[in-house]
Amino acid sequence: MNQKALERQKEIYLNGFAGKIPVIPFTSYGLEEAAKGVLSKKAFAYIAGGAGEEKTVKQNRTAFDKWQIVPQMLKNVSERDSSIILLNKKLPSPFLLAPVGVLSLAHRDADLAVAKAAASENIPYIFSNQASVPMEVCAQAMNNQTKWFQLYWSKSRDLVISFLQRAEKCGCEALVVTLDTTMLGWRPRDLQLAYLPFLEGKGIAQYTSDPVFTDMLKTYQSQQAKRTINIQTLHGLISMVNHYPGNGFFKKLKSGLPIKAVQLFTEMYTNPYTTWDDLQFLREHTSLPIFLKGILHAQDAQRALDYGVDGIIVSNHGGRQVDGAIATLDALPQISKVVNKQIPILLDSGVRSGADVFKAIALGADAVCFGRPYVYALAILGENGVKQWIKNIKAEFELTMALSGYSQPSEINIDCLQTVVTQ
Ligand code: GLV
Repeated sequence: MNQKALERQKEIYLNGFAGKIPVIPFTSYGLEEAAKGVLSKKAFAYIAGGAGEEKTVKQNRTAFDKWQIVPQMLKNVSERDSSIILLNKKLPSPFLLAPVGVLSLAHRDADLAVAKAAASENIPYIFSNQASVPMEVCAQAMNNQTKWFQLYWSKSRDLVISFLQRAEKCGCEALVVTLDTTMLGWRPRDLQLAYLPFLEGKGIAQYTSDPVFTDMLKTYQSQQAKRTINIQTLHGLISMVNHYPGNGFFKKLKSGLPIKAVQLFTEMYTNPYTTWDDLQFLREHTSLPIFLKGILHAQDAQRALDYGVDGIIVSNHGGRQVDGAIATLDALPQISKVVNKQIPILLDSGVRSGADVFKAIALGADAVCFGRPYVYALAILGENGVKQWIKNIKAEFELTMALSGYSQPSEINIDCLQTVVTQ
């Protein structure tokens, strides 16, 4: 439903008058705090954590704080329209939900809850390659609302082709190729807890539901890792079996498939061999528009244009890959200059509020993607949590835009901002 900002405000205040207080916090730090209270230590570490000293995680935020909106008055903002056109489709607000892996860590309904919430609010959802629910299941729950698919470039080309075919078949409208995760970053929070959810069979549902992957499993010779059997390893084993599709715990355990699936997945997860020329392979195997995610360098933006991709996502993976990497908002102006409106630019990493959406647009983004905030809302209240959170961000963006003197996103530009003046 496309509720306007004032209706949303009214709904919240009237509910409060009747004694109903919102469960979903309105600030990003409130969301994080509330989610921390309901998530396991390992789950929170995996979701909230970043690479190294988490300097880039922080700088993704301070980059937004370096800019201030300079509102203008008396501009008749009685008629407001937050919508944008992206890939020839009208979106109600200039944001999408970023692909986030292993959402079963946040809530048992995982990706399916997000898919339903996104669809009900008309906000595009980018399915994660590391989802906890197969793309077809989420796609079906979204009917014809906008969905995209995010690809990790696997070592198996056949698997890549299969993912592309499935994405097209279930109605995904664009392909997002994540370039920055040819290996997992060095993440102290996870390392300290010695915890990687994939090893428990979590976040590999796109693989275990895939015909090519399951075919490979049949002939896959797993290495017999020597492990001590204790409560911890048993817990991991039970999780692997439970996360493997199908019924009958002991039948699945006896088949050996759940363990083999985790091993095969870890062998082919991502591919550090990929180069720009490999993009041709994707182009040959999909007719979907291709967005490159992870662009931070202006020269890479130029290469993206040279290779004829359809869009880019300025992203540092929420600071999870290279600690010390440039903040995305700091990278945006140069990239925007190079791209010069030839293809759409999206931005993620550190986007937390309606004001952040405004600033990113002013600096050259067409739209942004939110990640952690909606995952926290999912952890707190499942599908309804994500839905409430989407409504809030829509309203916050509309009010920020209007109270700054603008009636639509296309009016927002660099003149709406100034850098912080230090005394
Ligand atoms: C994987 O996509 C991760 O960021 O953990």
